[in-house]
Amino acid sequence: MQKSKLAPQRAGAPRRKASPSPAAGPAVPRIRGVKAADMAQIATLDATVTGLHKAAYWQRVYRRYGVGSQGQRHFLVAEMDGRVCGFVIGEVRDWEFGAPPCGWLFAIDVMPSARQMGVGALLLAALAQRFRRVGVNTLRTIVASSNAMIQSFFRSQGMRAGHLLPLEMNLEAEQGGLRSEGHGA
Ligand SMILES: CC(C)(COP(=O)(O)OP(=O)(O)OC[C@H]1O[C@@H](n2cnc3c(N)ncnc32)[C@H](O)[C@@H]1OP(=O)(O)O)[C@@H](O)C(=O)NCCC(=O)NCCS
Repeated sequence: MQKSKLAPQRAGAPRRKASPSPAAGPAVPRIRGVKAADMAQIATLDATVTGLHKAAYWQRVYRRYGVGSQGQRHFLVAEMDGRVCGFVIGEVRDWEFGAPPCGWLFAIDVMPSARQMGVGALLLAALAQRFRRVGVNTLRTIVASSNAMIQSFFRSQGMRAGHLLPLEMNLEAEQGGLRSEGHGA
């Protein structure tokens, strides 16, 4: 596959139009809603990134985001040459953490052989467009602090550190302490 750019650099503003024919340039992925028939390819793509094949998990995600999404949940795929080469999943969440309705992106993956060609940017732009259509003007995600690649990708698309700070604790380690202080369930 020829490695050349296909996509908008930032979520929203295309820097180049799709080629009218293959002879005029590289294939351009089509961004569309996921179909049930895509799920095997998506589970395989995820497994190449995570090393885990989670077929049952992906069926649950499909039921929640792929069908019956009611305009708030989005599961989009990039299809090129008849194959799924990437996907993005996100949803609008209302008043979580006290914040007005906000678009959350919680998964994005591009097939290794299709990376750095603009597919990720196209997927992000398509998701952002769907959020804008319902009046949402903020996009959020959470990234692993160790994943420099995904941080670089999101920064290139205009995302910056927000004002929310993720907190977590180890529930097993804290179990005794919480009980002894009388806060246990
Ligand atoms: C992150 C990811 C989605 C990017 O997809 P992609 O299609 O390769 O991204 P694009 O081609 O649209 O790249 C857009 C910009 O992102 C940045 N970028 C992309 N890949 C990068 C990399 N490996 N290292 C540094 N920056 C990178 C660049 O700034 C790039 O613009 P440029 O090529 O003009 O410099 C893809 O690499 C991926 O699927 N990674 C593994 C999955 C993952 O970690 N997901 C996170 C969990 S949700």
